[in-house]
Parts: sequence; C-alpha cells; structure tokens
Amino acid sequence: MKKYFVLASIAALIWACNGGVRSVPDDNTSSASSSSDNEEASSSTNSSAADDAKGIGKFTHVDVSATIDKSMVAAGQKIYDLKCSACHHLDGTKLVGPGWKGITQRRQPEWIMNFVTNTDENLDKNAQAMSLLEECMVRMPNQNLSDDDARRILEFMRNNDAKQ
Ligand code: HEC
Repeated sequence: MKKYFVLASIAALIWACNGGVRSVPDDNTSSASSSSDNEEASSSTNSSAADDAKGIGKFTHVDVSATIDKSMVAAGQKIYDLKCSACHHLDGTKLVGPGWKGITQRRQPEWIMNFVTNTDENLDKNAQAMSLLEECMVRMPNQNLSDDDARRILEFMRNNDAKQ
C-alpha cells in the first residue's frame, strides 16, 4: 500500500517536472534579453546575470582540467548512489529532479558546486534554481555535502557527460 503511494507520487513528480531540462536554455536567453526591461520591476530581487550563471555560494572559480580524474569520479559515484540516485537519473529523463545528462554543458561548474552545497539559498534567490523549482515543484533537500564531495560530484557529472 505504501509502495503504491510512493509510486503514485513519483509518477506525479515526473509529470510535474516534465520539460524542466528543455526549457533551461530558453530561460537563459529570455532572461538575458529581458532583464534590462524588467530592471525596475525586479529590483527587489537584487540578482545580476553573473549571479545567475555562477549561483550563490562560496565557489567563484572552479578549476576543471581537460582530463577527468577517475578517482574523484569513483568517489562521486558512491555519493550519487547513496544520496542522489533516489531523485536524479543519469540520462536526460526526470525522476523527482532533472536528469543529469548534459548538466555540465548547461551549467557552470561554480553553479553546480554552489547549488549542491548551498541548496536552500539558491532555490530562494538564484533565478536559474528558482525556475527549476517552479518546474519540478519539489524542493531539493539540502544534502550536506562537504566542499570536497561537491567537487567529486562535479567530476562524476563531467564523466557522465563525457561518455554519452
Ligand atoms: C528528494 C529528491 C532529491 C535528492 C535526494 C537530490 N535532489 Fe537534486 N534536485 C531535486 C529537485 C526536485 C531539483 C530541481 C530543483 C528543485 O525543485 O528544488 C534538483 C536539482 C538539482 C540540480 C540542478 C539540476 C539542473 O538541471 O540544473 C543539481 C546539480 C542537483 N539537484 C544535485 C543533486 C545532488 C548532487 C544530490 C545528491 C548529493 C541531489 N541533487 C539529491 C531533488 C533531489
């Protein structure tokens, strides 16, 4: 009985989140082109285009090398299996949250690391995160990742994108 509840709510969530990934590039272009028009109306949000792209948090510059660090990927896989796989698929399909395929192309590394270490603040204030929340209608719970774990997850995502 409980299982059916879970299945039903997951089905509802997949439906709710449908289209989330596809609309991200559109959001980027439309918010970039309309931000000056809306400057006065949205001045209370106090977010700039740079904040939107990098997210809110301590990571202002993340070095990623051309090669992929396999030991970080392996550590990232463990974190994914334990803490993320219940809500994120590795392909482009949604579960509770968006699938991760292509995420390293549509998001800056800084954005990903800020989002996963400072989830609440980004969901409240970062335009890209807020529009994801609007589409998925479920708030991603803070996962309490350390900075190192966030970097491992990023490497795991880079590897996931490199092999598809
Ligand atoms: C309970 C479900 C849940 C869990 C567990 C979860 N997430 Fe999420 N995640 C979401 C939802 C839902 C969103 C979309 C934003 C929102 O609605 O809060 C999201 C969004 C994201 C995004 C942005 C996706 C994009 O397309 O830009 C990243 C990155 C992310 N999660 C990383 C993680 C990581 C890393 C973990 C594990 C450490 C994790 N999530 C665990 C539900 C979850």
